[in-house]
Amino acid sequence: MKKVDVGDKSFVLKYSHNKLMRRISAMAEEINSLEKDKDIVFMIVLNGAYMFASDLTKKITLPCEVTFVKVASYSGTKSTGNLKTLVGINTELKNKTIILIEDIVDSGNTLENFIPQLELHSPKEIKICSLFFKPNSYKGKRQINYIGFSIDDSFIVGYGLDYNEKGRNLPAIYELEDQ
Ligand code: IMP
Ligand code: MG
Repeated sequence: MKKVDVGDKSFVLKYSHNKLMRRISAMAEEINSLEKDKDIVFMIVLNGAYMFASDLTKKITLPCEVTFVKVASYSGTKSTGNLKTLVGINTELKNKTIILIEDIVDSGNTLENFIPQLELHSPKEIKICSLFFKPNSYKGKRQINYIGFSIDDSFIVGYGLDYNEKGRNLPAIYELEDQ
């Protein structure tokens, strides 16, 4: 499918499912080689990261735990800056290596607000793994350790990412068409 309508907007294909899978395999290999001999917790940031996290963690060969949190700072196609924690932290994190799995890092507001909450649990370290990164809108100081694709500031849907909660189920990534 080259084009798709989600809600009131039209989107065009940007990354096919195969292309996503090839990149995710390479990211998993990188994590497998760089994060050896650690006590790892993959913390999946719901809802957007669910598909990415599922495909990525299947390719992880290191011993690890997998847990979920749910935060929200977006409404429609704009980041709102105020973060709501909808599903909190319920895992022992002391002295562990947390690898946060995100769908996309845009302004970085979600991370800036959420990471201090994680630090209260005294982990050994916190790493960030995001399938997409928008370097032009990123305002955070923190390094994103693993990035799938750096993209310009266009709005994308599919493969877990939504437009007003729709489009998450699409197996590929679509970009908002010029209007
Ligand atoms: P940030 O707090 O501005 O970094 O935004 C992070 C969150 O905004 C992501 O986890 C997504 O849920 C959402 N988001 C940012 N850009 C997009 C996009 O292009 N499509 C869909 N969701 C997005
Ligand atoms: Mg979202």
